[in-house]
Amino acid sequence: TTSSASPAPVRVCVTGAAGQIAYTLLFSIASGHVFGPNQPVALQLLDIPQGAEAMNGVAMELQDCALPLLAEVIQTTNPLVAFKDVDYAILLGAMPRREGMQRKDLLRANVGIFKEQGEALDRVAKKSVKVVVVGNPANTNALICAHYAPSIPSRQFTALTRLDENRAKAQLASRAGVAVENVKNVCIWGNHSNTQFPDVAHGYIVASDREVPVADYVGDKAYLEGEFIKTVAMRGAAIIAARKLSSAMSAAKAVADHVRDWHQGTPDGEFVSMAVISDGNMYGVPPGLVYSFPVVIDKKGKYRIVPGLDVSPFARAKLDATTAELQEEKREALDHIAHQVAAVP
Ligand code: NAD
Ligand code: LMR
Repeated sequence: TTSSASPAPVRVCVTGAAGQIAYTLLFSIASGHVFGPNQPVALQLLDIPQGAEAMNGVAMELQDCALPLLAEVIQTTNPLVAFKDVDYAILLGAMPRREGMQRKDLLRANVGIFKEQGEALDRVAKKSVKVVVVGNPANTNALICAHYAPSIPSRQFTALTRLDENRAKAQLASRAGVAVENVKNVCIWGNHSNTQFPDVAHGYIVASDREVPVADYVGDKAYLEGEFIKTVAMRGAAIIAARKLSSAMSAAKAVADHVRDWHQGTPDGEFVSMAVISDGNMYGVPPGLVYSFPVVIDKKGKYRIVPGLDVSPFARAKLDATTAELQEEKREALDHIAHQVAAVP
């Protein structure tokens, strides 16, 4: 018959394809959890030459999963091949932190990767490509990537803070004794680092069909302004201390949530956290930083920062502290790149 032609595959590049996060994420994408149950997917996998053999093993396993939606798998160590004509670029490939490091300690090790990949995206990706940076320090890497891809609108470059949001909601659900899906509109502001601000002021808990503000339901201001924020901000370090490896299953789940919502839209009345480029007009955040905001996304995949939320003096101080850190990271990243370029004979 001619009736049920399936849509053209969505082309998705995943970098760091031989790594930990990719191992869970690739299955999730290829099985339809991200782009929907009727949308074929073509995967374009990138790793460095040292990772090529392991990446080949992952590609073999993807084939062996026998997934009906997986139209094609390309594997390469060349960014110009990996990013060719992609609709989505999920940038995992980078060095993860180990115990005792801050995420910004990775800046010098990783920022060069995102300059090179920005340049490659600029040359070969679709101009409509949507980019999510996961490799740390994620916000600043996303900024550098956007900077080196001037032909692609900078609002299409985002960094992952959905993991922090999921952590925040899970902590509150456990504290309140409710199912996690009943915790709504809790959001992350600023950097994916320990200066992030997990904000409950606009959040609510759905209980017996009523929406109760988080603060009223939990009823413990000292916890919400103290231990809660600290637990969420330090969760990545706690996972590393326990596993001796950084979070991977939960990171992959958060990437899937981020990309699914960016592709399919957010539920009515709900917002989610995404680090996006600031334009200087929202919440006193200066222009030119990749900063996590609450956003809503329409069914066509266009996001908008939620306007007009109340910012208390407590929140203001938190928003400003994470801004200062992002400004410092930006300066350091641009300096580092300038020195590297100057060092080339
Ligand atoms: P991993 O070490 O298991 O895998 C990284 C992979 O990237 C490796 O296969 C490596 O060969 C590859 N790689 C390195 N340089 C590359 C390059 N230039 N191009 C392509 N591939 C390259 O690490 P992981 O656990 O998968 O974590 C990946 C990154 O994600 C780390 O930077 C980690 O800190 C970060 N992370 C971020 C979040 C977040 O919420 N934003 C959460 C978890 C982890
Ligand atoms: C996380 O939040 O788990 C990741 O960013 C890894 C890390 O270094 O904390």
